[in-house]
Amino acid sequence: MSPVVEKLNPRKPSALSMKRDAQRGDKRGRTVAINEITLDEVRNDAIKFGLATEVLYQMNGGKEASIYLVYWKDFPLILKAYRFWQSAQAKKSKGFFAPGRMQAIAAKEYDLLLACFNAGMNVPTPVGRVGNYLTMRFVGNGLEPAPQLRNVQLEEPDLVLDEILDDYLIMYRDVHYVHGDLSAYNILWWEGRAWIIDLPQAYQVGPWAEMKRVVTLLRRDIVNLLQYFKKYGIRRDPDEIVKVFLSEYVPHNLRNYDETVAGGA
Ligand SMILES: Nc1ncnc2c1ncn2[C@@H]1O[C@H](COP(=O)(O)OP(=O)(O)O)[C@@H](O)[C@H]1O
Ligand SMILES: [Mg+2]
Repeated sequence: MSPVVEKLNPRKPSALSMKRDAQRGDKRGRTVAINEITLDEVRNDAIKFGLATEVLYQMNGGKEASIYLVYWKDFPLILKAYRFWQSAQAKKSKGFFAPGRMQAIAAKEYDLLLACFNAGMNVPTPVGRVGNYLTMRFVGNGLEPAPQLRNVQLEEPDLVLDEILDDYLIMYRDVHYVHGDLSAYNILWWEGRAWIIDLPQAYQVGPWAEMKRVVTLLRRDIVNLLQYFKKYGIRRDPDEIVKVFLSEYVPHNLRNYDETVAGGA
């Protein structure tokens, strides 16, 4: 593992931080060096944690997470590793993501994936989560992953759009989250169905939600989705769709969050 860089307290941890570390009994909350995890580290961790029996190769590396094709016995799975890594966002704040934060993101994605799956959405079945790693069903065939929606030519785009909106409505109305990064990149196309993925940035629409933020994210997701369908000549009004979503669910205590949308909520 990488050496711990005590960025905030280079030499001498304060009494408070030592007390906190002692209470925690681990290194949560400390910052670590920028460190791209290697395939060997991932392989060791995944096997040690019982998440995989074999780690084949890295499929891609996003901003915060790397994606690996792994096997658990005979079953191909996707392993998503949230890295102790400096993202563009962290760079701005001159900070690092602490391991605890990476674990929290992995846990959030796993829990939300499970909630979405249980609610009936077409998402990859979550399989396991340990630390900053999670596994889920591999959507694809053999070693060939499903293409992203942006790379496919649909035969019945209208139906597919409806299907995706129905799934997203389940997420919003029943699971109470907005996706926050929905686009033709984060939807896979496989076996004639759309699979929504990549949930770590989703925002919870509960009693403490900031409704204006909810509406902004929801609208942006819908606009991004509709953007892809424009090439098929499909034009729908994003505001109408947002209105339908809001008419299906707004947390009870937030019904009157904004007079302009209260009528539809
Ligand atoms: N369950 C999965 N099955 C097949 N491919 C996947 C799966 N999850 C992710 N991928 C592939 O990895 C890419 C990145 O995954 P994603 O969850 O969007 O992470 P990020 O965008 O944060 O890197 C996806 O666009 C897709 O091509
Ligand atoms: Mg993605």
